[in-house]
Amino acid sequence: MASSRGEFSSRLGFIMAAAGSAVGLGNIWGFPTQAASNGGAAFLLAYLVLAFTLAYPALMAELIIGRHAHANAVGALRLISIGPKTRFLGTCSGSIGFIVASLILSFYAIVAGWMVALGLSSLAGLVGLSDLSQWLGEFGLVRNIVFMLIFMGLTIGIITGGVQEGIERWSTRLMPILLVALVLLVAYVLTLDGAGEGLKVYLLPDFDQIFTPKLIIAALGSAFFSLSLGVGTMLIYGSYISDKENLSVLGGWVTLIDISIAVLAGFLVLPAMYVALHNGVEIFTASGALISEDTLIFTVLPELFATMGLAGVIVSVVFFVLMSIAALTSSISMLEVPVAYTIEEHGVSRRTAVIAIGSAIAVCSTIILFNFETLFGLVVAITTRYSQPLLGFVFCMYAGWVWHRDNLLQELQKGNPGAEHTLFWKIWPWYVRLVCPIIILTIFVQSVIG
Ligand code: PFF
Repeated sequence: MASSRGEFSSRLGFIMAAAGSAVGLGNIWGFPTQAASNGGAAFLLAYLVLAFTLAYPALMAELIIGRHAHANAVGALRLISIGPKTRFLGTCSGSIGFIVASLILSFYAIVAGWMVALGLSSLAGLVGLSDLSQWLGEFGLVRNIVFMLIFMGLTIGIITGGVQEGIERWSTRLMPILLVALVLLVAYVLTLDGAGEGLKVYLLPDFDQIFTPKLIIAALGSAFFSLSLGVGTMLIYGSYISDKENLSVLGGWVTLIDISIAVLAGFLVLPAMYVALHNGVEIFTASGALISEDTLIFTVLPELFATMGLAGVIVSVVFFVLMSIAALTSSISMLEVPVAYTIEEHGVSRRTAVIAIGSAIAVCSTIILFNFETLFGLVVAITTRYSQPLLGFVFCMYAGWVWHRDNLLQELQKGNPGAEHTLFWKIWPWYVRLVCPIIILTIFVQSVIG
């Protein structure tokens, strides 16, 4: 059954694909900017703790359920259900997951389109096409629609190829390029004047902020978004893992790579902000707070690149290529969620499913672009702030309470016959049963009432 629906060909293939999903705009854009505005190293510390203690166990819940069922989230949650109520809840949660994944892709494709356009803008400037460069660099509606469509076209093209020929092949090609580009950029930016100040902000914690609810909520949201949790993406990637593999180790690798890249991106973005300040670019708002979020990447960094002459143009091209690659390996994982569901639950061919769903998402993105002020922030908040933690909670409840413990162990033993003697098995089952749901819910309630 597994192979007829596609399977990753190797351990490395899975790790690259899952890390490719995890490493995205969330790591290179989201994490550093959140760190910048939430106490630097204080945020880093909270993020590291939450990523290992909450996000990793939640990731494992998705991977184990997915591999056991070798099916999409709806099919998988139904399979491990124990009665009509849990089956119904499973169907609802899985379906919400695929809607949320599609909505995330609808705003993600817009931002990713900006990255592609800004990279090309720098390139056009380099070869002297200044009018084109200017058009590509400005946030006009037409440019935004065109580049969102180009990005969706790339995503659709890769996903049409299926698991091995599409997802695995492209993730394995693109992830090493991403890593090399990131390391080169960090190494270069750290040599520039002003970078040391940024490093200090990043590495010296502001202890006043460390346990504030605002910081913890932001760090949890960041960790969940960054590991692509709570939409069924990791569940579906888990469903393509061979039964021979040791799941807890694979999940550990993915978490480690994801966190390392986020932390590494912090060494690029925060120092870059202070290099910009050193070069005369404004990085503080009128109230004295650090400029962050969208403004950082779309205003501060381009202004910084502009102060650096030819080197700035090259750095800019490399930076936006890096962002585009990171976005692409994530967007393919988002599109796979509704596509796998439609193929498996409705018997549609992959090609038809990909084109129909990809086009529907592109229409959603266009609607968001036409109503940007009202819709963009709203869709981001609904999907990432509310839906992802809640669905992550549901997956933990299924792994911890609904699914029988013996069956869970059997699943882990497939790739690791001594699984019952591992530290993972001693901690994880009660952790995912009690600790994860309670903490996720507490933080969620805080974020709603706060
Ligand atoms: N993990 C991706 C990032 O950090 O940018 C975002 C993401 C991918 C979220 C896939 C959700 C998802 F299903």
